[in-house]
This record gives sequence, C-alpha cells and structure tokens, in this order.
Amino acid sequence: MTVTIPPELIAALHVAKKVVFLTGAGVSAESGIPTFRDAMTGLWERYSAEQLATADAFTRDRELVWGWYEWRRMQVMKAEPNAAHRAIAAIASQVASVDVITQNVDDLHERAGSHNVLHLHGQLNRPFCFACRQPHALQPGTPDEPEGGRRLAPPQCNRCNGYIRPGVVWFGEMLPEAEWNAAVEACDACDVLFSVGTSSLVQPAAGLPLLAARRRVTVVQVNPNSTSLDSHARFNLVGAAGVIMPALFDAVWPASS
Ligand code: APR
Repeated sequence: MTVTIPPELIAALHVAKKVVFLTGAGVSAESGIPTFRDAMTGLWERYSAEQLATADAFTRDRELVWGWYEWRRMQVMKAEPNAAHRAIAAIASQVASVDVITQNVDDLHERAGSHNVLHLHGQLNRPFCFACRQPHALQPGTPDEPEGGRRLAPPQCNRCNGYIRPGVVWFGEMLPEAEWNAAVEACDACDVLFSVGTSSLVQPAAGLPLLAARRRVTVVQVNPNSTSLDSHARFNLVGAAGVIMPALFDAVWPASS
C-alpha cells in the first residue's frame, strides 16, 4: 500500500518544535494486544469490560478481576512493540520536544524507546494496595496464565495486608492528577498533535486534541476508521498506525531512516 503524506504536513513537521502523540488501543493492536472490548474472551466472555473494570467488581469478586488483569498482563509481556511504536520513538530524535500521552496500560511505547510516557489510564505493571495504595512489586517473569485465563487470588499488601489491585484507572475513578496536568500542559504548548489509534470516545482524554485544535495547532488523526475527531483534524491519515507512522517518518526525514 502506498501512503501519501500531505506536503503541508511534512512542512509543518520540519519546523515543529514540540509534537504530542495521543495514543489509544489501536496503536497496540498490531502487536496482538486485544482492545479493551475484544479482550472479553475465554473465561470472561460472559462479562463486559465495564463489569470487570470497576472498584465494585473487585470488591464483589477480586479473584475474577485479578485473574482477568493478570491474563492481560501476560499478553502484554509476550508482545513486542510494532512499527508504529518504533516510529513514534524515532520522531523524538528529530524534533526538539516530543510528548507521548497514552490511554494504553501496556508498556510498548517505553519498550520501543519512548521516554517520559504519560499513562492517563495507569499501567498494568504498577499494581498497588486496594486499601492503603502502597505500590506492590510484582514477581519477576511472565505470569503463567492458561489460554483463556483463570480466576486468581491477588497478592496481599506487605504493609497493611490489604488486597493488591491492578494499577489501572477503573471506570468511575479519577485520572492521575500529575499525568493529566502534564498532558494538558503539553497540548497547550505543542505545534503538532497526533491522535493515533483511539476512538476518541472516552473522556477526558478525547478532549485533548480539541484543546489543541482550538489553538489552531495542526491536528493529525491516524486511524483506519472514522471518529468524532475527523471534522476537527486538519489531516486524517486513514489506515493502520503500523503502516502510516513509518511511512510518515520516511516522508519527513528521508535521510534518517
Ligand atoms: N491502527 C490505528 N488505529 C487502529 C488500528 C490500527 N492498526 N486498529 C484499530 N484502530 C482504531 C479503531 O478504529 C478505534 O478507533 O483504534 C481505536 C480503538 O478504540 P478503543 O478500543 O475505543 O480504544 P481507546 O480509544 O484507546 O479507548 C480509550 O477506553 O476502553 C477504555 O480505558 C480503556 O484506555 C481505554 C479507553
């Protein structure tokens, strides 16, 4: 497939001092990480994500919820960053300042070489105590989960003996304040903002590109499907992030690839 990158976008990136990437599940899809809604298979097919990703669900049945997240963590640990993660990391070596703001709870941006990634929805590998919030160090190595997963008792806190919960932001919870403030600040100061692989459905993250668009920043969307951001983005690059992002890098910085 030939990808055409608009010359105006190439020109904008040549002079950009600060570029922001807001990423979602679509950026990890080509690494084989099922999106949130696709993750409801095996033991969990009778549930919706919204039924498992809440504090109430954990209080009701912590083994079910911990087992689901450990299964997802295992999938992430077995996955590798894809061409989109790598292109985003490579752009940081060409532009004075790059911020990656992600809704993903995996660590594939970091493993591709991106630094200071802002995780708006937390991280699978940063669990903490449900009772006293003390961080919990996981056992090294990949959790050994059977195909389809299993119920699993969460570990207990070595400070208060409470149960350890996944390090993600559940429905109904606040986003981490420092990450959110840093994300707003980055969107307030950037020249170009990319929204890559997100449905633009989940607030408040979906509002970030609109903040930038209101300042007449160049907003670029990379997605094979249309979203509510289509009409606000200056450029809609339609296709898979793993194809579009490396093509964009080669078009903008041909001597560096
Ligand atoms: N490249 C780019 N985009 C893709 C690709 C791909 N290869 N494959 C799918 N997409 C797009 C889909 O078209 C969709 O718009 O990725 C988007 C994924 O949307 P969601 O599953 O809604 O993921 P996201 O936007 O990250 O959801 C935000 O909602 O489920 C909660 O907390 C969860 O962080 C998540 C948040």
